[in-house]
Amino acid sequence: EQDKRESLYIVSNYAAKFYADRMWNSEDGKTIGLSYFKERGFRDDIVQKFELGYSPDDWSALLEAAIKDGYQQNFLEDVGLVVKNDQGKIYDRFRGRVMFPIHNFTGRVIGFGGRTLKTDKAVPKYVNSPESDIYHKSNVLYGLFQAKKAIRDLDNCFLVEGYADVLSVQQAGVENVVASSGTSLTTEQIRLIGRFTKSITILYDGDAAGIKASLRGLDMILEEGLDVKVVLFPDGHDPDSYVQKLGASAFKTHIEKAKKDFIFFKTEILLKEAASDPIKRAGVIREVVESIAKIPDAIKASVFIRECSGLLQMEERILISELNKMRLAKA
Ligand code: CTP
Ligand code: MN
Ligand code: MN
Ligand code: MN
Ligand code: MN
Repeated sequence: EQDKRESLYIVSNYAAKFYADRMWNSEDGKTIGLSYFKERGFRDDIVQKFELGYSPDDWSALLEAAIKDGYQQNFLEDVGLVVKNDQGKIYDRFRGRVMFPIHNFTGRVIGFGGRTLKTDKAVPKYVNSPESDIYHKSNVLYGLFQAKKAIRDLDNCFLVEGYADVLSVQQAGVENVVASSGTSLTTEQIRLIGRFTKSITILYDGDAAGIKASLRGLDMILEEGLDVKVVLFPDGHDPDSYVQKLGASAFKTHIEKAKKDFIFFKTEILLKEAASDPIKRAGVIREVVESIAKIPDAIKASVFIRECSGLLQMEERILISELNKMRLAKA
């Protein structure tokens, strides 16, 4: 079993090297793959740091190279680098895409994300490795291996949505950044961050729809005893597009200016939505106190109660009695 996992790591590492080699050393790789990254503003050092690559637009480029180099087809299948269809035909999963190897936090390659170069909406933007014996999506944070030292040194972790966000933020000199890769955060991922810092700052894409949906997920971070701050980007921007357009120093200034504690952020968003409707406002109060009830540290919780009492225009003692009720219900 251990032997098999080792073989899966080895074949994944082989594939990462293959895709990088094809990008830097083949004609298509240079004119299609590498120029794509350059057009997006990524410097060579960042492309190298993340071992980015290009998968040739061919049905079996990886498969043939790997077999020729002595790797077993079944291991390639087990990590999903090659796929077998209903007719038993074997082909490469990643074709004609720029490749983002996904490392575990010790630095071993465990999977891939592949981005299309087409703008055709019918083509999926990203194709990702399937779950395997070495890749469990919900336990992985993209970029953690490259970021972990900075996260510990700076005692904070920036959390972004996507691969490109990690690259651009790193390139701006902000090295304590990881991505959840588009899925909502899991407890495992929060605990992984918790090994390096107790403070998370979430850098959201500026599409308002997703923000409300994710509020509940963030309570999980509080439950794990970590502090959460939130930074919103202007409509239509994600951290990558913002920093690429406006530069590193504007990006850092924006973070400092727009950074809000999650509890206040949530309170403000919900209050704005409720406007002057009294029933809705009562609901907001309950939801905010519910979040505060998740904070294990009683002193922190009472500081938030005091601050939110002002924002919610509600007496502190009422909030406290709600809080105590919720805590009792939970116990
Ligand atoms: N994602 C995915 N599959 C998709 C769309 C998104 O796996 N079809 C994941 C990817 O990890 C992606 C992240 O969700 O990086 C965020 O999605 P999105 O904001 O749509 O993409 P960006 O990362 O902004 O990609 P780009 O800037 O290259 O368009
Ligand atoms: Mn496992
Ligand atoms: Mn998005
Ligand atoms: Mn983007
Ligand atoms: Mn995005």
